[in-house]
Amino acid sequence: MQTKITIIGAGAAGLFCAGLLGQKGYDVTVIDNGKKLGRKILMSGGGKCNFTNLNVEATHYISQNRHFCKSALKRFTQWDFIQLVNQYHIGYHEKDHGQLFCDNSAQDIVDMLSQECQKGQVNFMLQTQLEDVVLAEQGFKLHTSKGYLQTDHLIVATGGQSMPALGMTAIGYKIAEKFAIPVVPVKAGLVPFTLHKPLLTVLSSLSGIALPVEVSNKRISFKENLLFTHRGLSGPAILQISSYWQAGEAITINLLPDFNFEDDFKPLLDNNRNQSLKNCLAQILPKRLIEALMQLNLIVDTTVKQLTPTEQQALYQTLTAWSMTPNGTEGYRTAEVTLGGVSCDALSSKTMAVKNQPNLYFIGEVVDVAGWLGGYNFQWAWSSAFACAQAF
Ligand code: FDA
Repeated sequence: MQTKITIIGAGAAGLFCAGLLGQKGYDVTVIDNGKKLGRKILMSGGGKCNFTNLNVEATHYISQNRHFCKSALKRFTQWDFIQLVNQYHIGYHEKDHGQLFCDNSAQDIVDMLSQECQKGQVNFMLQTQLEDVVLAEQGFKLHTSKGYLQTDHLIVATGGQSMPALGMTAIGYKIAEKFAIPVVPVKAGLVPFTLHKPLLTVLSSLSGIALPVEVSNKRISFKENLLFTHRGLSGPAILQISSYWQAGEAITINLLPDFNFEDDFKPLLDNNRNQSLKNCLAQILPKRLIEALMQLNLIVDTTVKQLTPTEQQALYQTLTAWSMTPNGTEGYRTAEVTLGGVSCDALSSKTMAVKNQPNLYFIGEVVDVAGWLGGYNFQWAWSSAFACAQAF
């Protein structure tokens, strides 16, 4: 009898793994609680799916075991995925920082994965929820919303907790706990910050304004855009630092990331001595932001010529090291990724198999590997799925 493999989750990792295993001749079934394949892929990258990044490196991933992802990322690289995309004649382009997006639509990536599954005669059970897993004489018995199933091998590709409206469940972590596999506590990553009043009251009036900044905490910094929102702060710089943020911790925002005092800032002040400080600074920052900083008493409403050299330095310091403590994050509702998950230490980095539980595997976001913004999370899904398929 043919070896039966069941994959839970028709997301990026589950679909890619299913196609590879089906094409190797295995009897593969994918179970998903949604109606459609690859729902997160479809909504990713503003509908254009940022499917990988030209600069994939292990340092762009967060995990308690920072070496774990290296093996899979090395064995199925961004170039391998790009080759597959090229085979399907899917047009793509590079945006900032090596991010690759579809020219047309994320649907192209889902269609490609679904054709790969068709080639491998993969079976799908959609609108089917996995509720429990128990060990059977051979393999596992799966309790689903549509009855019981038997499988020789079980691949868990149930993703993280972000976007609960899409039907995300914690079943992956529950399966891990059931088989005594440690789970690193999960929390939202790549997520906007919320702010306390009165800071929120002032800054929410800037909603929609974006500007380049460098945002940092004690451990890391990101030079990208910041976006003011009705609830607080977003934009790539904020999403990136949110994955490295701990509750109660301050962040520092440099509003002039490309300025230095002697060469740029002082000449700006010297050349505009007769102007109001507001008009002078409006040459380099949005006017409404300067007004908000005045309302917060971070900048005084004066003329440039009234500033003493010490006050000029203090102003520069204010604009390049604006410190604030976020109230919290918007949580899983808007997060792009889940930090934490099934502990890497319990898995083989070569095959994603559970070390002490034969025939059980975890791939994709359910594992304690979370990427930076920019296509890194999909690359982890492709690479970990490929590694798992190599186990068969
Ligand atoms: P994924 O979450 O894709 O799939 C898991 C599947 O399992 C889901 O279909 C779920 O319904 C199903 N499932 C869960 N529990 C189940 C149960 N009990 N029974 C049956 N089925 C169950 N990354 C990137 O690299 N580039 C990008 O452009 C973006 N953009 C982006 C936008 C938005 C809005 C979000 C929320 C996320 C992104 N990401 C991203 C992150 C990326 O989408 C994510 O890391 C991958 O989709 C993870 O793929 P997985 O296959 O691991 O899980």
